[in-house]
Amino acid sequence: MNLPVKSINELKYASQKLIDFSGADKIFLFYGEMGAGKTTLIKSLCECLGAEENVTSPTFSIVNEYEGATNKIYHFDFYRLKNETEALDMGYEEYFYSGNYCLIEWPEKIAGLLPEHYIRVDIQVLNHDERLLTFEKI
Ligand SMILES: Nc1ncnc2c1ncn2[C@@H]1O[C@H](COP(=O)(O)OP(=O)(O)OP(=O)(O)O)[C@@H](O)[C@H]1O
Ligand SMILES: [Mg+2]
Repeated sequence: MNLPVKSINELKYASQKLIDFSGADKIFLFYGEMGAGKTTLIKSLCECLGAEENVTSPTFSIVNEYEGATNKIYHFDFYRLKNETEALDMGYEEYFYSGNYCLIEWPEKIAGLLPEHYIRVDIQVLNHDERLLTFEKI
């Protein structure tokens, strides 16, 4: 499904739509160029899922962990990953198959390790404030 977002103020609504769309799926892959708004959307999504922690891109650790209302939330940023071996070494599988939420930035970096089913979110930049979100079940 496509969801136009006119400004950052509409992200809360978009996050709720994304949660509704996802059903029971808990792994979300976020695609979009640098600065498209992956972290910003994930922050809003985490709030909708009941996380009260400060959501920022995991810089030193690849993965951040937050407490959602019903499940833990793992927030990955694979941008700095050099190769897939690094993902194996950090134990990505434990997180992916834990049954908790996994919100993943730069999944392109682990293209060979993607789970069988996930929610694909594409963020297209239309202008400074506007985005076109696309949600897809894989
Ligand atoms: N509608 C919108 N949705 C998301 N972000 C928006 C929107 N409008 C403006 N922005 C701005 O765009 C920027 C998005 O930055 P953000 O860090 O979320 O991008 P990113 O995709 O995570 O980048 P990176 O690839 O570097 O991790 C923020 O400064 C945010 O305020
Ligand atoms: Mg980011």
